[in-house]
Order: sequence, then structure tokens, then C-alpha cells
Amino acid sequence: MKPISINDYLNHENPWSKRLLGFTEFAKKRDIQQIENEYNLDKYAKLLDYEFETIEDCKRKEFELGGLPMDAQMVVSVGDELHKTAVATARAHYNHTIQANIDKYREGNLCELGCGYGYNLSRFKGDCYGGEYSKNAVTLAKKLGAKVSEFNYYNEADYQLIKPNTTVFTVHSIEQLPDASVIIENLEKQKSKINCVVHFEPTVVPERKSLLGMMRNKYMELNDYNRNLISVLVQNQNIEMLEIRTDLFGLMPLNSTNLIAWRFKK
Ligand SMILES: C[S@@+](CC[C@H](N)C(=O)[O-])C[C@H]1O[C@@H](n2cnc3c(N)ncnc32)[C@H](O)[C@@H]1O
Repeated sequence: MKPISINDYLNHENPWSKRLLGFTEFAKKRDIQQIENEYNLDKYAKLLDYEFETIEDCKRKEFELGGLPMDAQMVVSVGDELHKTAVATARAHYNHTIQANIDKYREGNLCELGCGYGYNLSRFKGDCYGGEYSKNAVTLAKKLGAKVSEFNYYNEADYQLIKPNTTVFTVHSIEQLPDASVIIENLEKQKSKINCVVHFEPTVVPERKSLLGMMRNKYMELNDYNRNLISVLVQNQNIEMLEIRTDLFGLMPLNSTNLIAWRFKK
């Protein structure tokens, strides 16, 4: 990985430079209609047009359709440092980050909420299952051999898909909900079945003080991404925090992944 400067990353070719500086208007409302359009009707519907031999082939196509074929170069972040590297290397690093940290906390079954077509789940052994809002992603998961059911974070009854003795995890799906309170309230109703919860999620981190950090917080705001996952957890008296590591790795440096692990107090 080759270090690069923030000026090389946020230059005139990157549309986010002008949006973050307010030269170009940008504002999204991230409600369920936005998820329907952006994920169900666009991203996953397009992937359903192809036949894949393996779930890895499907992920490769997802990156390719997003303008990142495996042999291209991309910019990633580790903390506040930026690096240019091959897409394949970046993806390997990202997958390793998820795998190593799930292995550290996993007890029992593994459930990913907001799991898309189940790619992350496919990398683990044992009883691995997931829930996902997009009907097209659930159909794709069935074709690819992943156990994924329909699930909407906003519906209390859907959380009953969580089986006893489960470690729950999320990867860039809570980012899609501006307010995480509904998730933690609904998980609390299933707490007897949950061993611990591990998030790999971008969120607003008020403690960020660097230029890149402040831009990350602004990026979350403009996209109407999650603002409060960490504060909702830390303020809940029934929750024991196990680990918070911010800006662990960013496949997209403005939308970098934080590791947040916790469990309900017994
Ligand atoms: C950035 S993708 C991440 C998918 C998957 N976790 C991964 O890492 O490949 C965000 C996912 O969150 C899902 N999602 C967004 N809002 C949701 C909701 N209310 N309930 C369940 N899933 C939701 C989207 O449909 C999409 O699959």
C-alpha cells in the first residue's frame, strides 16, 4: 500500500471535495424508500441479471459495477492515513478485519443483520444466517446458497429471526439508519438469545478532531447516514461495552469502518 496525501485524495476529480465544501449541493433523506430504490431496485436487481458460480464471483461483479474491477487501484484509509492500493489487496484487508474480529468475539451461531446476499456470512463456518430488507438480495442469497430471510430493522417482529445462542454482527447496514435507537430497543427484546454484538459500522464520532475526521462526520450528515450508534450504546445502562476502535479501516476513506463490540449485562 502506497501512502498518499489528503490533497491527492480530495482533489477536483473527487465529487466529494465540492460537496463537502458546499460548492455542489448534496442532501439525501435516508428512509426506507431510499433503501428500496438504492439497494433493492438498483444494486441487487442488477446483480440478479447475472448467473454466478460462486458468491465470490457475485462480490467481484458488485465491485466491478461500482467502478472497481479487481485490477484497478483505489484509495483506502487506516485511521487518518490514506493509501493507494489494488482493489484485490484492499478487499483482502477489509475481509480480514471482519473475520479476525468476529473470530475474537464469536460464541455459538452467527447472525448478520442487513446482510445483503450473505457474502460476509459465507466466509464463516457453523450455523450462519442473516436478515436483509431487500427482497432481491434475499432471492440472490438463495441462488448463491446463503441462509438469508427478509428482515427490516424498523419491524420489531422481524427480530424473532434471531435464534438462541447467537452472536449478532452488522457490516455497513446500521449506517443506513440515521437513528440507531430502534435497533438497540428491538435487540434488547431478544437479549436472552444474544451472546454479544459486533458492529463494523461508520457513524458520526463527535471526538474526531482532524480535517479528515470532521469531513467524515459531515459526509455522514450529507448522506443522512447513522449519527448515534456509539452514543445510544454507551448511554444504555443495560449494555456492557467490550471494545470501540474508530476508523479501523476504510474501503471508502470518508465512510470508514469502526469496530464496536458489546453485550447485554446479565
Ligand atoms: C452497504 S450494504 C451492506 C450489505 C452487507 N452487510 C455487506 O457488508 O455486504 C447496506 C445493506 O443494508 C440493508 N438495509 C438498509 N436498511 C435496512 C433495513 N431497514 N432493514 C434491513 N436491512 C437494511 C441494505 O438493503 C443493504 O443490503
